[in-house]
Amino acid sequence: MQITIQKTPTSRLSEVDFDNLAFGRSFADHMLVAEYADGAWKSVQIQPYGPLSYQPAMMSIHYGQAIFEGMKAYRSKKGEVLVFRPEENMKRFNKSALRMCMPEVPEEIFLGGLKQLIQLDNAWVPEKEGCSLYIRPFMFATDEYVGVSPSTTYKFIIFLCPVGSYYTKPLRVRVETEYIRAAKGGVGFAKNAGNYGGSLYPTVQANKDGYDQIIWTDAATHQYVEEAGTMNLMFIINGALVTAPTGDTILDGVTRKSVIQIAKDWGVEVQERLLSVKELVEGISSGAVTEAFGAGTAAVIAPIQTIGFEGKDYELPARKNTDFSAKVFTEISQIRLGEIADTRGWIY
Ligand code: COI
Repeated sequence: MQITIQKTPTSRLSEVDFDNLAFGRSFADHMLVAEYADGAWKSVQIQPYGPLSYQPAMMSIHYGQAIFEGMKAYRSKKGEVLVFRPEENMKRFNKSALRMCMPEVPEEIFLGGLKQLIQLDNAWVPEKEGCSLYIRPFMFATDEYVGVSPSTTYKFIIFLCPVGSYYTKPLRVRVETEYIRAAKGGVGFAKNAGNYGGSLYPTVQANKDGYDQIIWTDAATHQYVEEAGTMNLMFIINGALVTAPTGDTILDGVTRKSVIQIAKDWGVEVQERLLSVKELVEGISSGAVTEAFGAGTAAVIAPIQTIGFEGKDYELPARKNTDFSAKVFTEISQIRLGEIADTRGWIY
């Protein structure tokens, strides 16, 4: 498919302080915009990043047919731009699309368009350690209609943000036992906008009580640990890597599956299983649980220091460089920067 390119007359690159990048506040010069109508992708163009104009009755604003992905690109020492496992994000995006009655985005637009966009905005990929170019593909329903049914028109957009760390310190998280994120048969596995909107109220309550994030528990019993606000959850228990199995309620995280693969390659036992809150807090008290961390594209590997449950804080041991989470973070960082051989074929 032909991608037309309209370049910006004035780059904003010099306005960005690349030494002090926050997460998600700066946007690269260009974006890719594709339009779907009459059962087919019609036009794809790269144009200056900027406002779009829509009718107040645009369906996605009312009924939530909106999905997104997150990926990261890194600059290697040789100056190449390396993207970490984008095919996995494309597959997951299309699974989300199916669940939300939206059209699939073909590879030539998702990956082919991304490649051209990054080639054009290559200078926006940060060089500084710990920074990267966050890639945000998303799709939303654009019919002007107030009835509830799948839209017939959609926009697929990719924009790029040079970013620093999402979390800057070890996290305090609280086990949530009242509100839920996802239920069996629901859309927890999909990356649809509403999952995040629904998480805000309970997260703000936890923030008011001094916690950074929530540990969601299963909707039926609140007894089992699921995932955290923006990432999958992982634990080291008696030396094994323990994480919730994927299913309706758990996002099939790309960082999650990468950590699992690395653990297996290192000979670390991996248990994808239900973990009860009781086992977790008793394990922290007894010393069986030695590490807790989140895994996600934005968060990468985010160590958890404290887990709050029923008014009591459970403290994880102080972090060491020899921890599994520290070593896996180094391994993933080195793969993403092209500093060690990409033996698993993860770099694009
Ligand atoms: C990501 O890790 O890319 C996410 O989707 C988290 C995001 C909501 C900040």
